[in-house]
Amino acid sequence: MNRRSVLSLICPGRLLTVRMFVTVLIIQMVVTLLIVLSTRYSDATRKGVELGIVIRGNGRHKHRPHHHPEVEVPERPKFKRPSIDLNAINKFRKLGFNVSSVHREPMIPVPSKMAELKEALSENVLPGLFQIFRTDSQQFTYDTPPPFVILTATDKNFIDLAENWRESIRRLGLSYDVLLMAEDEESHKYFFERTTERFRTVLSTQFALPGKLAKNISTYQQLIRRRTVYILSILQSGYDVLLVDIDAVWFKDPVKLVLDEYDKYDIWLAQGKQARFPCPCFFYMKSTSVVIKMVYDWIERLAYYGGKVETDQVALSFILAANKRNLGIKYFDYYEFPIGKQFFNWTWHDQFADRVYIAHGNHLGRSVGKVSKFKEFKVWLIDD
Ligand SMILES: *[C@@H]1O[C@H](CO)[C@@H](O)[C@H](O)[C@H]1NC(C)=O
Ligand SMILES: *[C@@H]1O[C@H](CO)[C@@H](O)[C@H](O)[C@H]1NC(C)=O
Ligand SMILES: *[C@@H]1O[C@H](CO)[C@@H](O)[C@H](O)[C@H]1NC(C)=O
Repeated sequence: MNRRSVLSLICPGRLLTVRMFVTVLIIQMVVTLLIVLSTRYSDATRKGVELGIVIRGNGRHKHRPHHHPEVEVPERPKFKRPSIDLNAINKFRKLGFNVSSVHREPMIPVPSKMAELKEALSENVLPGLFQIFRTDSQQFTYDTPPPFVILTATDKNFIDLAENWRESIRRLGLSYDVLLMAEDEESHKYFFERTTERFRTVLSTQFALPGKLAKNISTYQQLIRRRTVYILSILQSGYDVLLVDIDAVWFKDPVKLVLDEYDKYDIWLAQGKQARFPCPCFFYMKSTSVVIKMVYDWIERLAYYGGKVETDQVALSFILAANKRNLGIKYFDYYEFPIGKQFFNWTWHDQFADRVYIAHGNHLGRSVGKVSKFKEFKVWLIDD
């Protein structure tokens, strides 16, 4: 037997196998080369700027210098830089407040589209609020409450209504922390002089605002939309937020309703004109990851979405209807949290007023109309 037949005895078909192996190897190399080339091609289509390559319609590519006018660079959303008011910060320090920046590393990762907002937020300053680290599963009750802040906003037209709201809380003997965002110098000056350990005010121009929220429009709606950014800053600092409107009067402690069932939901809301239409006149948010993500969604919609400008309520209604964060949402009853047209209507009032926690002067026109209604219904608690 010669060597070859020995080989084919031990391992029949060996020579054929070697030939096939080499062929397959060559085919594989060609395929790999093709894949690499096509990947580079499609990468170049996407990242034409970085590679300095412009893809032509016919697929041939050609090197070009950087920043050629043909290359479209997507514009980054802009945010308004805050003008940090060192005077105000020093005044707060003298009053004994810990003035801290919003923590640089938020407790949850920022959705990628909102990197600008994260950068903007890191410069915002919240007097009296230092970073608190919490876990999502921490339990609280009415007797052991979570750290929380009542957030509200006013401008110079609503100073007397804000005072009336504060008086209603004072009469209930509630000692909750209140942070008032003053939207102009006049209201800021007024409330700054009335700062207490539990009541602080911040001028809203000290806040960095992203995208459309930074537009210099002085309408009430724009003012209200901006509250979403304050909410996010406070939630990121580890405090729950109770957002309230100041054109309201409190009759009973609404916080008890929340804290008595704290483990059951993520957010608690009053309803607006239509059922389930959120009314941010009473909106309690837990400082947990899912809620913070929802607030990011809310701001993103208000700040960056094209098309018609939405009110904060409309934007929130879409977000809560989709509820992609799977939040536990509690809507309060109209009997406890009526809208203005209910409470300030004698027919409704005579039947249900004793069940009410908060009377809200919404849908009553601007401040003058509200004040006269408040007087008519004997809920104007301050002197003229
Ligand atoms: C002030 O804030 C810092 C962190 O920002 C914290 O370490 C410190 O304990 C706070 N001081 C008081 C008195 O709360
Ligand atoms: C915003 O607009 C008002 C006039 O409408 C102007 O007086 C004010 O300086 C503007 N503020 C900024 C920051 O551009
Ligand atoms: C007041 O409420 C009653 C009963 O709910 C209703 O019939 C009436 O139209 C309301 N009045 C106004 C002015 O809205």
